[in-house]
Amino acid sequence: MTQIAPSILAADFLNLGKDVETVNKYADLFHLDVMDGRLVPNISFGFPVVEAIAKKAEVPMDVHLMITHPECYIERFAKTGAKMISFHYEAVRDPEPVLGLVKENGCLAGLAINPDVPVSKLFPFLYACDFVLIMSVFAGFGGQKFIETTYERVKELKAEIDARGLSTKIEVDGGVSPANAKKLVECGAEILVAGSAVFKAEDPAEVIAAMR
Ligand code: DX5
Ligand code: ZN
Repeated sequence: MTQIAPSILAADFLNLGKDVETVNKYADLFHLDVMDGRLVPNISFGFPVVEAIAKKAEVPMDVHLMITHPECYIERFAKTGAKMISFHYEAVRDPEPVLGLVKENGCLAGLAINPDVPVSKLFPFLYACDFVLIMSVFAGFGGQKFIETTYERVKELKAEIDARGLSTKIEVDGGVSPANAKKLVECGAEILVAGSAVFKAEDPAEVIAAMR
């Protein structure tokens, strides 16, 4: 079953409780985008927001770290109660020990890549990934246009995962909406992140249902 992960980056921060409620009721995961202004040209939110959401979250938190030196913060995010933690391939010299660190802290480990990084770069690490996060926009901002080459990238990755007999899941993030959800799932995606499509909609529940 496809999991829908609304991205809190697009929520109404003055009424965060209301948007948290929407995720609890209708979605499968909280997608939390942490940005440091170094790996990506934007700064989002950090521990105070993640900890506040953790107190109300009834579905697991999926923390997407768009930061340099993710290894320095994994333990602390795990302690907030995150169930999934991903960090960027571009952010580390060797992903392997960092994936191990995520798992040692009791979380599912994910490796994320930007659209300009060949998916084959992930192949050597697939065995150590519980999931991979394929960016379908350049990491840094919500509300960008979905990049169409993502379909091929997801297919290529899925073929490799299957060929190796692995159960690594594919998560797709950026510009995802009911318009591309079905095709992404057909290509092999199992987790769909959607920020603007969900929170800027008049009826977020309807959009989540449509994406399933
Ligand atoms: C972008 C983030 C995304 C973003 C998705 O760097 O990783 O999770 O919030 O937002 P939409 O769905 O609006 O593209
Ligand atoms: Zn994200």
